[in-house]
Amino acid sequence: MDGNGRWAKEKGEDRLFGHLHGVESVRNIVEGCAELGIQYLTLYAFSTENWDRPEYEVSGLMELLVDTIQKEVPTLNKNNIRLQLIGDQEMLPEAAKKELKDALFETAGNTGLTLIMALSYSSRWEITNAVKQIAISVKRGELQPKEITPETIHQYLSTSEFPDPELMIRTSGEYRISNFLLYQLAYTELYFTHTLWPDFRKENLYEAILEYQHRERRFGKTSEQVNKEENSP
Ligand code: IPE
Ligand code: MG
Repeated sequence: MDGNGRWAKEKGEDRLFGHLHGVESVRNIVEGCAELGIQYLTLYAFSTENWDRPEYEVSGLMELLVDTIQKEVPTLNKNNIRLQLIGDQEMLPEAAKKELKDALFETAGNTGLTLIMALSYSSRWEITNAVKQIAISVKRGELQPKEITPETIHQYLSTSEFPDPELMIRTSGEYRISNFLLYQLAYTELYFTHTLWPDFRKENLYEAILEYQHRERRFGKTSEQVNKEENSP
C-alpha cells in the first residue's frame, strides 16, 4: 500500500490525512477480497524501515492502527475474516500490542479470508530470524545441515502457515519490492499501478486480477509443458 503521503500532498494536506484515507481503501479491498472468495490477503502496512520516519508520523500511524483494529473487529467477525500478523511485534507500542493480541484472539475461529497484516515487517529481518532459529536447531542437534531444504526455510519463516502469494500489487507507480516477502515472491506475478493507495478501490483490484488471469505461470517450465499439464485430466 503506497502513496498515502503523495495523495495528501496533492491536496495540500498533512501526510496523516493520507494515511487516514488509506484506511478507507483497506476496508474496501478487504471486503472486495472476501467477496471474491480470496483465501489470503497480505497488507504491507508498516515496514521495519518506516520506524525511521519522523516521530509524529510514526506515532500518528500507530494511533490509527490501534483505533482501526478496535473498530474493525466486529466487521472482521461478521465477514468471517481471520486476522494474522507478520513482523517484529516487539517494536510496537504496548497499546498496539494489546489491541492486536485481542483482535487475533477474537477472530481466530473465522474460516473465510485470512488477512495478514505485515507490521514492523521486513523480509531481511524475517530471513535473519529464520537463519538464527535454524542455527539454534542445528546446534541443539535437532536438525542436520544436510537436511536443510527450501521447505525447511519455508517452515522457519513467519509465513510458514500461508501459501506463497500468487499476485503482488504495488500502488503509486513505484517499481520496487521494498523488503517485502523476498523469499515468498519467487514466482509471484507482479502488478504495478500508478493509482495512489487512498484511491485504490475494488474496481482497481478487479483490473489487477483480470490482468493476472492473462499471465502464464510457468514456474521455470516451458509453455508447452504447462499447457499439457493443464489439459491432462
Ligand atoms: C504508504 O504510503 C503507507 C505507509 C508506508 C505506512 P506512504 O506514506 O509511503 O506514502 P508516500 O510514498 O510518501 O506517497
Ligand atoms: Mg511510500
